Amino acid sequence: MSILRSVVCGCGSYLPERIVTNAELAERVDTTDEWIVQRTGIHQRHIAADDEPTSVVGLKAAQAALADAGMDASEIDLIIVATATPDHTFPATATQIQAALGITEGAAFDLQAVCSGFVFALATADNFIKAGGARAALVIGAETFSRILDWEDRTTCVLFGDGAGAVVLKAEQGEGTLADRGVLATHIRSDGRYKNKLYVDGGAGSTKTVGFLRMEGKEVFRHAVLNLAETVRHTFAATGLSGNDIDWFVPHQANRRIIDATADKLGIAHDRVVVTVDRHGNTSAASIPLALAEAHRDGRIQPGQLVLIEAMGGGFTWGSALIRW
Ligand SMILES: CC(C)(COP(=O)(O)OP(=O)(O)OC[C@H]1O[C@@H](n2cnc3c(N)ncnc32)[C@H](O)[C@@H]1OP(=O)(O)O)[C@@H](O)C(=O)NCCC(=O)NCCS
Repeated sequence: MSILRSVVCGCGSYLPERIVTNAELAERVDTTDEWIVQRTGIHQRHIAADDEPTSVVGLKAAQAALADAGMDASEIDLIIVATATPDHTFPATATQIQAALGITEGAAFDLQAVCSGFVFALATADNFIKAGGARAALVIGAETFSRILDWEDRTTCVLFGDGAGAVVLKAEQGEGTLADRGVLATHIRSDGRYKNKLYVDGGAGSTKTVGFLRMEGKEVFRHAVLNLAETVRHTFAATGLSGNDIDWFVPHQANRRIIDATADKLGIAHDRVVVTVDRHGNTSAASIPLALAEAHRDGRIQPGQLVLIEAMGGGFTWGSALIRW
């Protein structure tokens, strides 16, 4: 059966220049490099400059993805920016990126699913493309989490970083089989009962402030391992595939221990896992496209290979997607 597929035809990323090491953080809060590395696998993170809001970080990733695709911005008719750190409450960061790219046609909007944002945005763009509502989409994950961190709270400020990644999806005719290139399956979930486990304690509609990130780390860890395995099993059941079939596993990069535990549960060998958390920290919605761009650029991910992505974030939200590159 002939169907429209969303084929990844470009991928790019951007990391702010400034690198903050664990040793530098240990000068600000009561922590050590050893504690951070042992509990999270993080060695350093990038922090955006004052004149680099999320739209600027996202724009640079979008430009890199378009260059990689060999496409002109005018060919894009849908932009979705997954972010929990928009420049402003409104207008959407996506419209700022749209304008900066010189695009005046089509639609651009933000999507908020925190660390799962890229998976949700990819699923949304894929459904637009499959339904004939868009021909070429930019899906961007862009964050400046450094701006919502309480830099005196050692339990959270050591975990996050800033950055952006983007993919260009293009509609192509497929055969409707797993041999097709493009997004083959997506699965997204949420459960708002867990709001208080991971949230920001401010907002335009409540405190009229931006607020700071708050988290019950142990609880989030426990739910992450359970939910991530569940969503991937759902994707496996929908496609008849298993961990052995996956060429590259590109998980959300929150904690090395969560990544390893999830890969083990799913039967995916560690040398098939793309890891950036050691150098990027947790960049929320940007973490997956940042990792995809790195593995695409260095030649690990090759056209035709099967790539599995998954993420879990505040809400709780979680999800997974299977892509034939
Ligand atoms: C945050 C996380 C690394 C903490 O690791 P943990 O093994 O659960 O550690 P705990 O929270 O139990 O803390 C253990 C001790 O270390 C202390 N601690 C916390 N942060 C610390 C830091 N940066 N440096 C030194 N000690 C720290 C705690 O205060 C606690 O001390 P206590 O036993 O005296 O109370 C871990 O829970 C985690 O990664 N959770 C998931 C986070 C995540 O993925 N979030 C984003 C999802 S999108």
